Amino acid sequence: MRKKNILVLGGGGREHVLCWKLAQSEHLNKLHCIPGNAGIEKFAITSPHISITDFDSIKKYTEKHEIHYIVVGPEQPLVLGIKDFFEDSPVQVFGPDKDGAQLEGSKIFTKNFFSKNNIPTPAYHTFFTMDDALYHIRTTSLYPMVIKADGLAAGKGVFIAHNEEDAVSSIKEMMELKKFKEAGEKIIIEEFIEGNELSYQLIVKNGKVIELKPSQDFKKAYDNDKGPNTGGMGNMCPPSWMNPDILQMVKENIAYRLVDNLSLAGIQFNGVLFIGLMLTQQGPKALEINVRFGDPEIQSVFPLMRTDFIEILEAYFENQLDEIPIIWENKCSCCVVVASKGYPGSCMDLGHEIIGLDMAGKMKDVMIFHAGTKKVDGKIINSGGRVLNVVGFGKTSEEASKKAYEAVEKISFPGMHYRKDIK
Ligand code: GLY
Repeated sequence: MRKKNILVLGGGGREHVLCWKLAQSEHLNKLHCIPGNAGIEKFAITSPHISITDFDSIKKYTEKHEIHYIVVGPEQPLVLGIKDFFEDSPVQVFGPDKDGAQLEGSKIFTKNFFSKNNIPTPAYHTFFTMDDALYHIRTTSLYPMVIKADGLAAGKGVFIAHNEEDAVSSIKEMMELKKFKEAGEKIIIEEFIEGNELSYQLIVKNGKVIELKPSQDFKKAYDNDKGPNTGGMGNMCPPSWMNPDILQMVKENIAYRLVDNLSLAGIQFNGVLFIGLMLTQQGPKALEINVRFGDPEIQSVFPLMRTDFIEILEAYFENQLDEIPIIWENKCSCCVVVASKGYPGSCMDLGHEIIGLDMAGKMKDVMIFHAGTKKVDGKIINSGGRVLNVVGFGKTSEEASKKAYEAVEKISFPGMHYRKDIK
């Protein structure tokens, strides 16, 4: 195989693990990342001043650096059509086109797709005006209930309302005060369900599929699933409670049904199909679809995969996903997300030097992937909400979790917070 120049888009923990994995490959020539972060700088040429949605500048960059493949980390460029933008260019983009990306870009589209195709999902109603949503609230007494913005809201557009007052204020924030801009103009009100969360990620190309190891996301900000929703505060791969029967049910009732029905509906979905689901007493129910790797899911899944990622990309672009064996380490991993004070709110305490990173990073069976970090005057500072992903490995979930927390304890910066119950 000819060595490849690869451009990764994004600057979080997900993109750090993607760059780390690509850098292991003997098939890599040069690795680039837009915008990158302080951890990614070790593996890739970074360009902090280019925006991941400025497709014209990205195109010029790919021409200048003779890029072969673009690996898109976050959803925004996909939903805005980066794959379509590069359609007539020699650069190949890993990810769905604009049509396929609707699965993440519109929750209403996806819920309707689930329900039309008999994919178990919590009961729901969709609302296009605030009056209709408020009328529904006056006529129901089913609490708690889940209120979701239809569009992209960086993992923050989901509220659990425990009473009428909560529900009315969430609806008004989204539909009247436009907290999530146009993403909240349409909303879903959904049945509240309980159970363990599971993230099941597939790589799909023309109906051929690679299945990644399942993992468990911990979405709430604080211990014991308390506090507001976040993009994810931790991840276990595989979840400590996983067994082959559960996995089989997830595949048959949800994953395969989804892939088969997408092609039947004429949606040629190619890229990462991330299925977020919950295991309830009535079986698995699909909650959402993302069209890119999960963050922090992939930080704990990819280090367990031995297969070369560039070989996977090559097989993907050559329509040969069924010919590549995926080999896994027989280990467990635990990712603990370290966040800045104030996260997931918008007012955060940033700019502090992070102490202890080197010491923690040198520990055996530990890896650290940066998210919101920047290098200033040779020091690494916190520059975003989720700052670090500290991943521990072990033969069991407990060992992996213990390792991750031993490393987290060596790290400090003012205001840092993390969940203590990822296991
Ligand atoms: N951790 C969930 C997500 O990536 O959307």
